[in-house]
Amino acid sequence: MASATLLKSSFLPKKSEWGASRQVAAPRPVTVSMVVVRASAYADELVKTAKTVASPGRGILAMDESNATCGKRLASIGLENTEANRQAYRTLLVTAPGLGQYISGAILFEETLYQSAVDGRKIVDILAEQGIVPGIKVDKGLVPLAGSNNESWCQGLDGLAAREAAYYQAGARFAKWRTVVSIPNGPSELAVKEAAWGLARYAAISQDNGLVPIVEPEILLDGEHGIERTFEVAQKVWAETFYAMAENNVMFEGILLKPSMVTPGAESKDKATPEQVAEYTLKLLHRRIPPSVPGIMFLSGGQSEVEATQNLNAMNQGANPWHVSFSYARALQNTCLKTPTPSRSSASTPPTARPPRPRRECSSRTTATK
Ligand code: 13P
Repeated sequence: MASATLLKSSFLPKKSEWGASRQVAAPRPVTVSMVVVRASAYADELVKTAKTVASPGRGILAMDESNATCGKRLASIGLENTEANRQAYRTLLVTAPGLGQYISGAILFEETLYQSAVDGRKIVDILAEQGIVPGIKVDKGLVPLAGSNNESWCQGLDGLAAREAAYYQAGARFAKWRTVVSIPNGPSELAVKEAAWGLARYAAISQDNGLVPIVEPEILLDGEHGIERTFEVAQKVWAETFYAMAENNVMFEGILLKPSMVTPGAESKDKATPEQVAEYTLKLLHRRIPPSVPGIMFLSGGQSEVEATQNLNAMNQGANPWHVSFSYARALQNTCLKTPTPSRSSASTPPTARPPRPRRECSSRTTATK
């Protein structure tokens, strides 16, 4: 009532002034100072690539461990970090029988994009023959974020366009940029904004160069916090990330997301069932992710293979607006690494003699892990 009176007395012209006011208020052309941004020349191809990677029943094999991280994986089974051993291991992964039935995309480290398998065939060709889209890790890793609470930021924007143009020529069709947010260390406003802006710049540059960007702000599992706190932080992180992507004119139908699942911290006294993880994670996605995004491909983040699988399964019990699947590294490779081949089992040091590995040995993802 008060506002109606206000409107009547302050803003509406008196009846006797209608004619005059109509002249004064004659519609004027509205000038909005905006530059029309041209779409990526690859727009159609990006949508097609994203849909192929997000195809039913399949997910991504993340095998983009840097040479240093690959060395740690090899060391865990007593192997030296030589190029020949990395090649043999990666050959084993890409030649697994029936791989293309379950895997739609494989994220490679730069060395692997140009690498041949042990039999001399290019690894990208082996993937393509199985209907698997080759992707490439393009970030340059994490470094300390000055001015923050011991948090980090992700490098790699300098020269990114030129690198991505070369990766496209070499057969890559999607890219990955992983940055992290730590709950025990904050996260500070600065760290979240920096993570979001870096991801958005990377996503825009990738689309400009024909690569579908996988957007991965990993919320680290480390910490004693409960699931509610993870949910709260994840909402903030994804809000900032989508805001920054919109500001950078990123085409949402030509991206893929790689979120962490919403779980309690790895050191929390609370444990969540797969149904609880699914409930919180889907609630997060519905609140923050537009349905135009074709695929949500979760990282495993240090969960065991069984945990990661059960949680993902629980998320797919009903229909979702996006393809909800996996982009696991450890939750696909851990058993594969540990399973002895027939020749290894007959070697002098039996695999059972190796010290047992702690279940969450990789949950802490600091600057050196990828
Ligand atoms: P994990 O599945 O081991 O967390 O790795 C995900 C990842 O970022 C690799 O690309």
